[in-house]
Formats: sequence, C-alpha cells, structure tokens
Amino acid sequence: MTAPRRPMIAGNWKMNGLKADGRKLASALARRMKKLKKPAFEMLVCPPFPLIGLAGETIRGSGVKLGAQDCHSNASGAHTGDVSPELLKNMGCKYVIVGHSERRTDHNEKDADVKAKAEAALRAGLGAIVCIGETLKQREAGRAMSVNRKQLQGSLPEAANAKNTVIAYEPVWAIGTGKVATPEQAQDVHAVIRKELVNILGEKEAAKMRILYGGSMKPGNAKELLALPDVDGGLIGGAALNADDFWAIAEAAG
Ligand code: 13P
Repeated sequence: MTAPRRPMIAGNWKMNGLKADGRKLASALARRMKKLKKPAFEMLVCPPFPLIGLAGETIRGSGVKLGAQDCHSNASGAHTGDVSPELLKNMGCKYVIVGHSERRTDHNEKDADVKAKAEAALRAGLGAIVCIGETLKQREAGRAMSVNRKQLQGSLPEAANAKNTVIAYEPVWAIGTGKVATPEQAQDVHAVIRKELVNILGEKEAAKMRILYGGSMKPGNAKELLALPDVDGGLIGGAALNADDFWAIAEAAG
C-alpha cells in the first residue's frame, strides 16, 4: 500500500542564468503559485549560489520554496569557495541538493562525501535531496539496481526520515540528453530504491519518503512519469529554466 506522499517539483537551475533571468523566472512561478489555494505539490527552486538571496526575496510569501544545489559538510571555516548549510538556512533555503551526478563527476564526490553533506544539511535544519543514479555503462552491464542500492546505502544520512530527506533518482544517461527513462525503467528503479529504504529505515518511514525522478523530464512526459506508483515528483534541469514548462510539469503532478 502506498502512503500519500505530496509530490515535490524541484527546479535545479544548475549554472544557468544571470540576475534578470533568475528574477523573471522566480517571479513568474511565485505569481502562479500565489493563485493556488492549496497546491497539490511542493514547488522548489534551486538557483546558483549568488542568486539565492534574490530568488528568496522574489518568491517570499508565494509558497514556492528555496533550495540550493550543494553545500559543504562543515558549519564554517577555511573552505574557500564553499557554502555552509547553516548559511543556506539563514538565507531562507528549505532544502539542499547533495550528490548530484554532476558534482560526483566534476568534483569527484564519493558516497561518503555526499553522506557527510546530507548530515550537515540535517544538522543545519535543511532537508536533504540525496541524488543517486547509474551511468549508461553501468546500466548496459546490468548493474543499474546494484549501483543505485549501493549509492543509497552509502549516501543516506544516519538520521534520515521522510520529513528531512528526499531521494532523487537521476539516471546519468538521461540528464540533459533528451533520453528520458521509460516509465517501466523509472518505476523499476524507484521500487528497488523503496525496497532498500525499507531495509534501512523500516516499512513505515520508507512508505512516506519521497523519491523524485530526474533526467529530461518535460511537460510532454511528466504526466506519465509522475503517475507511477513510486515516483513522488521530479528534479528538473533544462525544463525548469522556462516558467511555462516548469509550471506545466507541476500541474501534471497535481
Ligand atoms: P535535465 O532535466 O536537464 O535532464 O536535468 C536533470 C537534472 O540533472 C536535475 O538535477
């Protein structure tokens, strides 16, 4: 039996946009969100670090929530270029994405690093969106399930529960490629993730925890993906940069 899980529609802006773009996008979403009395979905925008303040001001009071794309595992200190989850919280963030495949690749982040960041996020009072996902090579070798299980085991914070942690399954081969996972591929992995969550957290917590799908989610494929029994929302890159597209995805969830 599936517990009711409120879908999360999260936009990961990645390294895109300048000030005016961020303001325009955030205000377009805020305007639409304000009109909804009781949105069926939780909407999150994750701008690049320098736009966090501006985006936060723009969405204030609208119901759109603010997130970040990464954080350091320490609360403060000599870590040039890094940002603590405490500061993100202070700036109005509710969530932070950790372990995105682009961080795992570009910055060589390992499961243990991701886990430390996720734990730091919880320490600061942020929700952690923990990303996992297999590469094409791993899928073709028949290792998709084992890779995702292992990443989940290694990246999940010790104190994880359905309130403070969200999982995002993002097959690396589907990110920014236009090659979306088929509904069957997505559901199969999401079900395996949920089963592993049962092993780690127990039946009750696992049934409540949200598992987002990410990878070329667009208005045209969102409905089918979001209707799958174990898909509880989306982590959206490219389509999150366009207010109409992102909104259309959110509507497909509600
Ligand atoms: P795209 O939606 O551009 O494929 O990106 C997905 C993603 O990586 C979101 O974190």
